[in-house]
Amino acid sequence: MRKLKDIRPLEFREDFLFVINQLKLPHELQWVKLSNLEDYEKAIKDMVVRGAPLIGIVGAYGFYQGIKEGIPAQEAYQRLKNTRPTAVNLFWALDRMLNFYLKYKEDSDILRKLLKEAQRIELEDYHANRMIGGYGEVLIPDNSNILTHCNTGALATAGWGTALGIIRSAWENGKDITVYVDETRPYLQGSRLTAWELLEEGIPHYIITDSSAGFLMSKGVINVVVVGADRITVNGDVANKIGTYSLSVLAKYHNIPFYVAAPTSTFDLSLENGKDIPIEERKEEEVKNCHCCPVAPKESKALNYSFDITPAENITAIITEKGIIDRPNREKILKFFGRK
Ligand code: MRU
Repeated sequence: MRKLKDIRPLEFREDFLFVINQLKLPHELQWVKLSNLEDYEKAIKDMVVRGAPLIGIVGAYGFYQGIKEGIPAQEAYQRLKNTRPTAVNLFWALDRMLNFYLKYKEDSDILRKLLKEAQRIELEDYHANRMIGGYGEVLIPDNSNILTHCNTGALATAGWGTALGIIRSAWENGKDITVYVDETRPYLQGSRLTAWELLEEGIPHYIITDSSAGFLMSKGVINVVVVGADRITVNGDVANKIGTYSLSVLAKYHNIPFYVAAPTSTFDLSLENGKDIPIEERKEEEVKNCHCCPVAPKESKALNYSFDITPAENITAIITEKGIIDRPNREKILKFFGRK
């Protein structure tokens, strides 16, 4: 068993939440204090914190903060909900906090109870990731060259990670692996965050440009792809970081297993298929600038879709904390969740 670090992107102390400022990594490890509800809204919107499970957890603490400030529950809920549209974990966590509040609002220790609930959401996510890692690492053969996209690690969750959690678990179990990390334009979650985490853990890796995946697959370099998810619909379609769909098509063409790792809080069983998922569009400037340096003509227009949809048919399996859904489809997902 190899020993790994325990990177955590958030810490609650002195009645406030402190988070790693992910805009500063990998050059600086800066912690910022979220002092009021507005700080929470900004941190999620501006991607100081990001990653589907993490924005859910931060949203839950934000709801506690809002109530602590005397902001009406519905307003705090709505303001946090309006920060980012695609990852369902944020809405899942906020719904859970609001329902919890409505149930216990008359209690004299409601604030303490709300804080405990936010802490429970955080802890549950960490344990879910360890379970995902355990189920998923079995699917990673020794001596694998794994391709991953975006950042799905400790920084995107309460700790350990989803897709990167599987990679961590494989490494922890002594497997020899090399990770190929898509840089993931324009925010560069891959080259800035995933590479930083892999370096911290001593896991061998190469950063590659997003357009390198097909070439590497055609050369037979990659033998498995593992990615995360921001929302999964009842038929098994997956919204994830822009570029995921292209990777799934390439993996299918080259006959390479394509795994999606996500906690059950990422499923949205109210949506029939991926077409119904709202896709976040971010500012043109993020595409036209690379770390504040302009890299395009000022007059050009840019499109900045933050996510895309991978159809269920391109997915080998979805790995959750409750087990694996092989070749996902509507019937299997409903059965997995005990629904008809
Ligand atoms: O825009 P982000 O960085 O919040 O998007 C995150 C992703 O798309 C991750 O790849 C996804 O897997 C969810 S995080 C485990």
